[in-house]
Amino acid sequence: MKLVLATKNRGKQLELQALLAPFQVDVHTMPADLSVEEDGDSYLENAVKKASAVARSAGAFSLADDSGIEVDAMDGAPGVHSARFLNGATDEEKCQKILDLLRGRSRRGAKFRIALALADPARIHFAAHAELPGRIADQVRGTSGFGYDPIFIPDGHSRTLAEMNSTEKNALSHRGRAVRALIRFLKYAKVAHA
Ligand code: IMP
Repeated sequence: MKLVLATKNRGKQLELQALLAPFQVDVHTMPADLSVEEDGDSYLENAVKKASAVARSAGAFSLADDSGIEVDAMDGAPGVHSARFLNGATDEEKCQKILDLLRGRSRRGAKFRIALALADPARIHFAAHAELPGRIADQVRGTSGFGYDPIFIPDGHSRTLAEMNSTEKNALSHRGRAVRALIRFLKYAKVAHA
């Protein structure tokens, strides 16, 4: 099964490739000249839009991941706008902004949320939501992963995601959970053999 990842985010590409590596899926990245506007109001809407557009363009199955971090003390922001939060800012600046907003606050709950969608050029075959609850650290810690990983500590852990290696992160992350649901679906539906 040829599968084109509907993302140009290098961090997501690496994690999705690692999560799909044990399975019989021939993973490709999307063409650099194709862009899909993420203007939906929900992760699911954006994921479906990205998967459909890339599948049609590539003439193959496409897997899209729309995700973001929701910070309780920011009323769930940046949420579905996580990639565009502080437009043009680096990941480091975005992390620092959240740390500054939460400085001195004890309310530090947050969660990652993701919608995953699998499409072929004609239809959506699968979609799933997953989340990873946790809290915002007091400071940036760790260098692995991407995005908000250096400030996010999953529930039940004391290290940030950026202090974990990719195997540890994938075993517990929102993305790992959603991809494992997709794999279960593919096994049952046998789409992989179509
Ligand atoms: P989008 O799905 O392309 O809109 O971008 C989602 C944004 O949310 C990414 O650019 C990251 O900033 C953030 N994000 C999503 N998943 C993760 C993750 O696993 N770790 C850290 N940041 C993430």
